[in-house]
Amino acid sequence: MDHFNYRNDVLYVEDVPLADIAGRFGTPCYVYSRATLERHWRAFDRAFRDHPHLICFAVKANSNLAVLNVLARLGSGFDIVSVGELERVLAAGGDPGKVIFSGVGKRVDEIRFALEVGIRCFNVESESELRRLDWVAGELGVVAPVSLRVNPDVDAQTHPYIATGLKENKFGIDIQVAESVYVQAAALANVRIIGIDCHIGSQLTDLAPFVDAMGRVLALAERLGEQGIRFTHLDLGGGLGIRYLDEHPPEPAAYAAAMSYQLGDRPYEIILEPGRAIAGNAGVLVTRVEYLKQTGHRRFAILDAAMNDLLRPALYQAKQDIVPLRRDLEREPAHYDLVGPVCETGDFLGKQRLLALGEGDLLAIRGSGAYGFTMSSNYNSRPRPPEIMVDGEQVHLVRARETIQDLFRDESVLPQ
Ligand code: LLP
Repeated sequence: MDHFNYRNDVLYVEDVPLADIAGRFGTPCYVYSRATLERHWRAFDRAFRDHPHLICFAVKANSNLAVLNVLARLGSGFDIVSVGELERVLAAGGDPGKVIFSGVGKRVDEIRFALEVGIRCFNVESESELRRLDWVAGELGVVAPVSLRVNPDVDAQTHPYIATGLKENKFGIDIQVAESVYVQAAALANVRIIGIDCHIGSQLTDLAPFVDAMGRVLALAERLGEQGIRFTHLDLGGGLGIRYLDEHPPEPAAYAAAMSYQLGDRPYEIILEPGRAIAGNAGVLVTRVEYLKQTGHRRFAILDAAMNDLLRPALYQAKQDIVPLRRDLEREPAHYDLVGPVCETGDFLGKQRLLALGEGDLLAIRGSGAYGFTMSSNYNSRPRPPEIMVDGEQVHLVRARETIQDLFRDESVLPQ
């Protein structure tokens, strides 16, 4: 459930009509709901209340400081994949002691900074990284807390670009060899094993792959125990899907129940890295119809938002719901392709959507709170949209719209 609802055919975010926000800040603009973010975070927190747990929001899904700050105030931890994300977490008031560092390409400077601020754990994705971590920690005279990200070879049954738990993916350490890498890790002077980590993919709408992965991770945990390798947490990653159009993903409670059932009375702390399930339906991208255009074959609605603002439809053929800010039940609907002004055939936000449209209408592209702004770019020299967070009746601009000058401020021409 989220807090974007119609009242008398007018779409509201919490207690504010979205059209008021569009009028004040212009379009396109991202609008987030604080109550929705909090609700979704708490749904995970409550679902795992019977186990010690830490929910580490995946910063890549939405890294706006206001979003991170709202979650930090709830006590959230954070899953990061770069020093940039770590700096954002710190700037937003996040606790470094609740930060998990994932990703296959951690640079020396990133490792050093993360050690200096004292993050909770490094999710190590290769033997080389393990050696690098040991070396950097040794230089700093500290011990690096680690878990190995194991690749369980489970088919997440999601879009191939966002499946990460198969043998052919670049992520993690093959679960078959993980045991021997743990043995190596145990022998290193400057790392301390504290967990096992596993993330198999994103936008999963079925529990079976999670259950399958958990089974394999628990089997590994048992083998490690037999070798005398001790650790305190299991990091189950993120990946729980959301409803964009007609999907029926499990609720966090059902996911937690399935995981708890498998876990039984094993004493591990559970760490989670959800991104999309917390932020996805807590945000919309508001856009205006610039032109309606009919060709021999199709009707197009040309929007002022484009693939540079919201890449998911172009990159993954993702389908997100697109709804009017004001429903006009008198008008005849028709099927439209909703496209942006960018010079690419792949620049669409929705295809063959049944909508009653007029030029100048305002639309909301739902499910844009995760992997929306964070994947935006300046392609075609388009300034990125502002981000706005609504809290009840309050409207806060949490990132201003970029200006054209911002785009080339740091560029220069060659000397004469
Ligand atoms: N942990 C790790 C190690 C990850 O790689 C990811 C996402 C997450 C957690 C969070 O997954 P979530 O709960 O959000 O599914 N840009 C794509 C999604 C890429 C996900 C990458 N990794 C999209 O827009 O669908």
